Amino acid sequence: AALAPLEFAVTKNLAAKSPAAREQILADPGFGTHFTDHMVDICWSVKGGWHRPRVQPYGPISLDPAAAVLHYGQEIFEGIKAYRHADGSIHTFRPEQNALRLQRSARRLALPELPVEYFLQSIRELIAVDGAWVPSGENQSLYLRPFMFAKEAFLGVRPANKVAYYVIASPAGSYFTGGVKPVTIWLSERYQRAAKGGTGAAKTGGNYAASLLPQAEAYENGCDQVVFLDADGNIEELGGMNILFVKKDGTLVTPASETILDGITRNSILELARDRGLTVEQRPVSLTEWREGVASGDITEVFACGTAAVITPIGALKGAGFEDTQPTGELALSLREELTDIQYGRIEDTHGWLHRL
Ligand code: PLP
Ligand code: COI
Repeated sequence: AALAPLEFAVTKNLAAKSPAAREQILADPGFGTHFTDHMVDICWSVKGGWHRPRVQPYGPISLDPAAAVLHYGQEIFEGIKAYRHADGSIHTFRPEQNALRLQRSARRLALPELPVEYFLQSIRELIAVDGAWVPSGENQSLYLRPFMFAKEAFLGVRPANKVAYYVIASPAGSYFTGGVKPVTIWLSERYQRAAKGGTGAAKTGGNYAASLLPQAEAYENGCDQVVFLDADGNIEELGGMNILFVKKDGTLVTPASETILDGITRNSILELARDRGLTVEQRPVSLTEWREGVASGDITEVFACGTAAVITPIGALKGAGFEDTQPTGELALSLREELTDIQYGRIEDTHGWLHRL
């Protein structure tokens, strides 16, 4: 049976930004620095299940200093964008995929699984009050960040009995300051992101915390992002994006691994490539295959993809003692165009990927 919708209590933000102040932010939103006027908050407890759904003014969260998330990192999140179409309507892209991934992350982090219906409703409720924050400029969107954490005040190490789920939203332009110009990637040989049986496939804060030092190493070496290897020397993913390789014959290859995020952008790109009649391979890719493939001309493009990054070509791979310029070509940009044309409603959504809000 379908779940009855939650009844949200809505408290309007009386100190909401003026339309003029909002428009000024939307003119150049950057990424992740500005937030809308409201947020969604749903409580969960062992006894009460999901309860007290609210839309309230965006603002600080009050937490007990013993809240388990602050000590043991029991937290998960999602990243999804809302796009404004030319007719003014607002759409998200495959949101049920994010809802299902949040459930998989929840299972791994011993958090409760938010029903897909509640996830979708939480996004609808936020857009209902903050829809004016969805920008209409080129490559702009409203980045939605659903997240869930253990708020029970208890220092024993066990899954928390009280949990909070929130959704906040942040108007977004390009993730990289350079826009879609190719980025340079630092190969982290010293640090790994995830291990077999670990939390690599879950979207949990700890994975990103672990990526910060290698990411800092990337910056120190003049690179934009870090790419991780697994213990066997196979390519995993970047700190916040999946990676794809294009072969000379047009085949798309992307790492198959149980310790990377199951990227919705990547999965969609693979589907678009299959629609074009291209061969798609998900299999282990070693660093040697990458470097030799580029050297021999067998690999003709390398690109990163994710909700925040969309599709961004990789222009160089740098490691301790080497720097390989990466070939760039047409496929990454043409897939980027097709994907964003669907997301922004410029071409027909034949896959049924859009979800109108
Ligand atoms: N890999 C990591 C580590 C990420 O943080 C992200 C971004 O969410 C991705 C891959 C790409 O996933 P998606 O395309 O679902 O945004
Ligand atoms: C996303 O793309 O949604 C992410 O979570 C990645 C992060 C680098 C912003």
